[in-house]
Amino acid sequence: DDNLLKKIIAHAKEYGFVFPSSEIYDGLAAAYDYGQNGVELRNNIKSFWWKAMVQMNENIVGLDASIFMHPTTWKASGHVDAFNDPMIDNKDSKKRYRADVLLEEHIAKIEAKIDKEVDKAAKRFGDAFDKDQYLATNGRVLDYQKQIDDINARMKAALESEKLNDLKALIEELGIADPVSGSKKWTDVRQFNLMFSTELGSLADGASKIYLRPETAQGIFVNFLNVQKTGRMKIPFGIAQIGKAFRNEIIARQFIFRMREFEQMEMQFFVKPGDEMQWYEHWKETRIKWHKILGLGEDNYRFHDHLNLAHYANAACDIEFNFPMGFKELEGIHSRTDFDLKAHEEHSGKKLQFFDPQENKSYVPYVIETSIGLDRMFLAVLTAAYKEETLEDGSERTVLKIPAALAPYKVAVLPLLKKDGLPEKGREIMDSLKFDFNCQYDEKDAIGKRYRRQDAIGTPYCITIDHQTLEDNTVTLRHRDTSEQERIKVSELTGRVSELVSI
Ligand code: GAP
Repeated sequence: DDNLLKKIIAHAKEYGFVFPSSEIYDGLAAAYDYGQNGVELRNNIKSFWWKAMVQMNENIVGLDASIFMHPTTWKASGHVDAFNDPMIDNKDSKKRYRADVLLEEHIAKIEAKIDKEVDKAAKRFGDAFDKDQYLATNGRVLDYQKQIDDINARMKAALESEKLNDLKALIEELGIADPVSGSKKWTDVRQFNLMFSTELGSLADGASKIYLRPETAQGIFVNFLNVQKTGRMKIPFGIAQIGKAFRNEIIARQFIFRMREFEQMEMQFFVKPGDEMQWYEHWKETRIKWHKILGLGEDNYRFHDHLNLAHYANAACDIEFNFPMGFKELEGIHSRTDFDLKAHEEHSGKKLQFFDPQENKSYVPYVIETSIGLDRMFLAVLTAAYKEETLEDGSERTVLKIPAALAPYKVAVLPLLKKDGLPEKGREIMDSLKFDFNCQYDEKDAIGKRYRRQDAIGTPYCITIDHQTLEDNTVTLRHRDTSEQERIKVSELTGRVSELVSI
């Protein structure tokens, strides 16, 4: 829902999670800065991913490759020739669109019509309604489904044969109008490469054009042998990396969902050829478990299998999340075959193979990749966490129910009053906790107001120091989600908080 996205954007800005980039100069489209709370949430997401992928798997190790790479990398990977979007301009509004996205949006509209028919029928038939049977037999629904299949088939054929103007013909035939001007006058479709390039003057072979990496994966492929040899890794093994990637997205919008500069958390898992499907299934299962353990709502995830495979893949799917704009890609899991390593062998003239002692032969491994956008994960967390609630006393609050393990601050230390030695006691408690947890100290304003401030940034626990604390060394520990309070000994705080914030 658009409204929810607007609220999340406003909240993220007001509470120091996400600011528009260079805002004092009126911002830069589709670029964002992460504020004081945003950076903590990002670091916690990264750390949760890194622990699950690297620390918990003895056969996965990390890497931090350079953003700049030798330009031949992108020739080999296929990005120079094939990392293109088919673009179409509207002649009246002069707005540019991805032709395939215009068609997909048209398909979404037909799908919405099917949903409407289903809702109507469900109401009409009540308990006796059998959705599957209805979808398989209702004439109107079958007709809509046929339209969708037809558009998909023609789109696929046009993209595969690179007859791009077949997309234009399809757009015109379906009467698709520019969402801005309503005009139906379209230009021809042209390929538009998504890589950013810049100049570098000193390459040995005289080439000067280099690219900002559009994915982190290639840094892993070109280091495959370095890591395998120096780490004495045996197949199957993985290399994980977190880092920035850049794409000149035409339609960069929907907040941090689609940006031109974003961050990926990728892992390439190298396997024996022939074993890839088994590992593909393994990583699908492992990754969805990682998501579900966070508690953002099991129903908010679904798999989407790719029918149109990228140039490097023999199987691929997305994990989609229920964002405010609906279900959209959050993570990709791809079986990339030996496409990348073979291509780098060809272009570099270096062998990128593994000697398998059991098989007593060398081979180019196959690769299963898991690739998740950090910024999209951030948006998924905010989407699931944002709640407006009315409390028992009738007051309202906006609370971010961020999983405790990811919350920017784990605890806030709040002396009830700014006198009688309570602030001093608060400081003492703060000092005993802050090495283990990111804590915030706050003594300003009434206690209710301070709770609201912590709710708004997602702090899962508040420690309140009162006069009783000075007598018996106990404090109250308030739980963000339930507003429940427990009385607990100061000496037990570290243990209790650790237990509460771990997954
Ligand atoms: N190495 C494979 C690869 O890059 P991808 O599906 O193009 O695959 C992987 O990208 C993930 O990166 C996506 O699932 C998404 O989370 C994130 N991503 C891709 N483009 C993005 C963009 N423009 N802005 C934010 N995140 C993006």
